[in-house]
Amino acid sequence: MKAIRIHNYGGPEVLRYEDAPRPRVKNGEVLIRVHAAGVNPLDCKVRAGDLTKFIQNKLPLIPGSDVSGVVAEVGAGASQFKKGDEVFAMADPTRDGAYADYIAIHATAIGLKPKSLHHVRAAATPVSVLTAWRSLFDLGHLESGQRILIHGGSGGVGHFAVQLAKWKGAYVLATASTENQELLRKLGADHAIDYTTHKFEDVAHNIDIVLDTIGGETQERSWLVLKKDGLLISLVQPPPKEKADRLGLHGMMCRVQPDGGQLSRIAKLIDSAKLRPMIDRILPLSEARRAHELSENGHVHGKIVLRVKDIEL
Ligand SMILES: NC(=O)c1ccc[n+]([C@@H]2O[C@H](COP(=O)([O-])OP(=O)(O)OC[C@H]3O[C@@H](n4cnc5c(N)ncnc54)[C@H](OP(=O)(O)O)[C@@H]3O)[C@@H](O)[C@H]2O)c1
Repeated sequence: MKAIRIHNYGGPEVLRYEDAPRPRVKNGEVLIRVHAAGVNPLDCKVRAGDLTKFIQNKLPLIPGSDVSGVVAEVGAGASQFKKGDEVFAMADPTRDGAYADYIAIHATAIGLKPKSLHHVRAAATPVSVLTAWRSLFDLGHLESGQRILIHGGSGGVGHFAVQLAKWKGAYVLATASTENQELLRKLGADHAIDYTTHKFEDVAHNIDIVLDTIGGETQERSWLVLKKDGLLISLVQPPPKEKADRLGLHGMMCRVQPDGGQLSRIAKLIDSAKLRPMIDRILPLSEARRAHELSENGHVHGKIVLRVKDIEL
């Protein structure tokens, strides 16, 4: 099969488009004919070797944590799926991923694809939407009427977080650059903040939850906007506990996990038009290098997706 592989860690130039063996399914696994693979900052971090402290990968490695495709083969113990099912999933980052014609994935990571989305849009969804869901609801217990500040509201995780928070009935403030202000409003943000012209702490007050997708000084300044007992959830760097305690606030780090059951439930939300993935651009699989360069630029609007199989959009 055709795949993108890395033989050593490094910049986008280590991504090679080449032939690779088709994966074999083991017990509890499903072989998916990949139609499209979403691109995540996580894929870039794996490629760069930034996660070798936490994840043991064998090289050569096929990157890619988001997939949408069709079940091609079902292993023993994965009978909840059948050949021909249209599915989407977050792949396990310790194994070969989705930048390939085929991927073997444990059945528990797989959900039934939203019927209303073609594979490209479905592939844009798993990692980002699972992260947004886990942050807002599993960790944040966000409730109707609460005030939430979402940094990077136009990015992969952020654009789902804004929509999910609105669906829950929260008052949503979100940050992005000038170019993305209209987009934030279209996603449903009640208050769009241009971080290039305003300090968010001058306009955001009395916040119950901050979702930090940026880290660094954005995280540091975020403590200032929280109300007493407020919660800062970060995707990028653990909020220091001593600081939170000193301020009478709370901090948590979110770590996304594959969860097929959750994806199937989210698919229903998508099919009822409550949530929609947004695409920045679609590239062929062979242009994964370009996709990583764009992702690492840090200004993706929604998601970049690699088209693996020729499909009608
Ligand atoms: N811990 C976990 O489990 C987990 C899961 C998923 C993602 N992550 C991490 O979370 C981070 C975000 O992921 P993502 O997929 O959402 O990334 P992304 O799609 O690349 O998002 C980038 C977005 O951030 C915005 N942005 C850049 N600088 C900003 C600033 N100073 N203030 C506000 N917004 C800014 C950009 O908007 P403009 O173009 O308008 O600037 C862009 O829309 C990444 O580091 C990723 O690795 C962690």
